[in-house]
Amino acid sequence: MSYQFSQESEKRFQKLVPQFPNKRSLILPCLFLLQRDKGFVDHDGMQYIADRIGNPVSLAHVHGVATFYTMYNKKPVGKYHVQICSNISCYLSGSDDITAKVCSKLGIEEGQTTKDKNFTVTEVQCLGACGFGPVAQINDRYYENLTPEKIDQILDELEKG
Ligand code: FES
Repeated sequence: MSYQFSQESEKRFQKLVPQFPNKRSLILPCLFLLQRDKGFVDHDGMQYIADRIGNPVSLAHVHGVATFYTMYNKKPVGKYHVQICSNISCYLSGSDDITAKVCSKLGIEEGQTTKDKNFTVTEVQCLGACGFGPVAQINDRYYENLTPEKIDQILDELEKG
């Protein structure tokens, strides 16, 4: 069966529609709903969004927005999506060491997901917390002033649930 919004997302969509008289502005929050529902944004979901928003929004518009923003996952990610900022402030604070630690601990390379589907590691651009680098975002939570020891402990805690 093709994708459709979950009940919760449908409720949110109904609230969003009157708040965005310019229909193109609905694309971003709708992609967010799709990602909440499925964990990533795919062709099927993007087509659904284009259909739900309707004219003048096309699949090409939705696809263009989804591929412009790195915050939308284009493929499935693990239960925990570890996004490590590699932009200049974080880089100068040691983000490479954080990425290296995470990858070696999990036994995967950047961009990969562990076999048990628990973790995906991705290097991302600025997360907007430049004064607190190195910074990582794991799902909806930020972790700042990271050290290899701190991220090691954080991963252990997540692993335990
Ligand atoms: Fe890392 Fe901005 S450079 S949060």
